[in-house]
Amino acid sequence: MRKMMRAGALLVALAGAVQAQEFGDTPYVQTPQNVVDAMLETAKVTAKDFVIDLGSGDGRMVITAAQKHGARGFGVDLDKRLVKLANDNARKAGVADRAKFYDRDLFITDLSPASVITIYLLPEVNLMARGKLLALEPGTRIVSHDYGIGDWPADIEYEMDAPGKPVGRSQKSKVLFWVVPDLVAGRWQWTLEDGGKSRRVELSLRQNYQKLEAVATLDGKPLPVERATLTGRDIELVLTLPAGGRSTFSGTRINQAIEGRLRDTAGKTAPWSAVRVEIRDAAHVIAPAPVVREFNVE
Ligand SMILES: C[S@@+](CC[C@H](N)C(=O)[O-])C[C@H]1O[C@@H](n2cnc3c(N)ncnc32)[C@H](O)[C@@H]1O
Repeated sequence: MRKMMRAGALLVALAGAVQAQEFGDTPYVQTPQNVVDAMLETAKVTAKDFVIDLGSGDGRMVITAAQKHGARGFGVDLDKRLVKLANDNARKAGVADRAKFYDRDLFITDLSPASVITIYLLPEVNLMARGKLLALEPGTRIVSHDYGIGDWPADIEYEMDAPGKPVGRSQKSKVLFWVVPDLVAGRWQWTLEDGGKSRRVELSLRQNYQKLEAVATLDGKPLPVERATLTGRDIELVLTLPAGGRSTFSGTRINQAIEGRLRDTAGKTAPWSAVRVEIRDAAHVIAPAPVVREFNVE
């Protein structure tokens, strides 16, 4: 209800905004430059990144990513005049070779080149795009101005001053950040060498977006899990072993294995690998909407 009121308030405010136009699913409103800067910093954009802005307006997200962070990328927008303006702005900023803009619907754009996605779209449009975003390569970062993506909890969320913001009275903006999670739900097993004895660890993982619920056993007996986190493909588990104390297992999923390292309480490290013996669906996985047609704009 609150979200609907916020969306309604935005639309009402937009109706009076100078920049407001009747285009696509979300009207045109600029993200203030200090918020653009904060979003790109929150996503830790570097020269290695490929940034795609969904609904790119005058191009400021991708142009700033290219100018200040050395990144490459493109934006798509349904408003041809804005696409022309964004390409003109990229040329003026001297980054036209690295920041390109296309007249295209975000829903039929191939997003697979992206390492970072930026959005300033209405909440219901974010929700419509959720399946497409969750299907991106695990580890892809997403940063949004003002609105969430349905019930997908943000990894980082904060409010900041947004002087000159063309909508709303508070002159505040929200920044929200996510990392696309891998799918790791299921049962995992590995063996631990403990005082010359091989012991079997079994880990049961349930998953809702990036949030994990972990239950572990050691030779069939309960093994306390202090922490289980997932960032893209990277998993970190803190288990309390009966003899060895608190141990941290961190690794990356590769097919049905996790390859990484184990660090014991004393800080000693050793290789660690686990094997998935049963795959489960993550709670958030929903049937993707059928793709009508996808363009590769590169
Ligand atoms: C709120 S503005 C954000 C502009 C810019 N990203 C920024 O932050 O300054 C949203 C933009 O999305 C565009 N848009 C709306 N629906 C779209 C769609 N389905 N595909 C592509 N662009 C869309 C609008 O034309 C508008 O320029």
